[in-house]
Amino acid sequence: MPIKSNYTSTDIQAIFNRIAPVYDRLNNDLSLGIHWVWKQMTVSWSGAKSGDTCLDLCCGSGDITQLMAKQVGAKGTVIGADFAPAQLENAAARIADIYPPLDWINWVEADALNLPFADNYFDAATMGYGLRNVTDIPRCLAELHRVLKPNAKVAILDFHRPNSNLVRRFQQWYLAAIVVPKAAQLGMTDEYAYLNPSLDRFPTGREQVQLGLDAGFSHATHYPIASGMMGVLVLTK
Ligand SMILES: C[S@@+](CC[C@H](N)C(=O)[O-])C[C@H]1O[C@@H](n2cnc3c(N)ncnc32)[C@H](O)[C@@H]1O
Repeated sequence: MPIKSNYTSTDIQAIFNRIAPVYDRLNNDLSLGIHWVWKQMTVSWSGAKSGDTCLDLCCGSGDITQLMAKQVGAKGTVIGADFAPAQLENAAARIADIYPPLDWINWVEADALNLPFADNYFDAATMGYGLRNVTDIPRCLAELHRVLKPNAKVAILDFHRPNSNLVRRFQQWYLAAIVVPKAAQLGMTDEYAYLNPSLDRFPTGREQVQLGLDAGFSHATHYPIASGMMGVLVLTK
């Protein structure tokens, strides 16, 4: 797939179906495993607790879904939702190896812009590296607001453009000089070249806060992490 300035939902679905076989290995190698810490922080910030019914939207291969499942325990329920079936197959295969089984996870093929869940259904929600990829952020936030119970939270982890020019230049260098070549070794050059333009277009933390409030959330806070190269947006209904 050639590098474009505008990606449709179908393009994005195709990219994530195609990268599914290498996605986990790249995440672990490129972040030196630190993404697990950020993902655990995201679950904590969602406020999920034992026995809750939770959503992990844009779950991909299910890292956050698994952490959320451990957080809510066997009395809870976690739905991992994504629109790329290859990612969901991978996610299901990964939990098949876990003992005792996390059988309170359900995998659902769903579009983040049109969620197949009732209003006021979830006690908490997470989304990791998904908001930057949806084609309509206000609509995705409105859907999250709709499916959460009153006072429930969603914690949204994603890349962020740091305020410091020096750190931003480091981030751009890292993506171009380390991430894309590493992906190229695995035959995924074009798919990972998509990362930098998607980050250029992604709203800043302050803009994300405003988008959250516009979607109807009563409280919105953006927590920069990793020197501002990542961030977690926490929204309360
Ligand atoms: C970068 S991956 C993140 C996966 C996982 N949450 C993680 O943190 O490792 C983004 C995921 O968002 C999904 N996605 C993008 N747009 C979507 C949409 N409109 N509806 C559902 N899933 C979507 C992709 O299929 C992909 O699996």
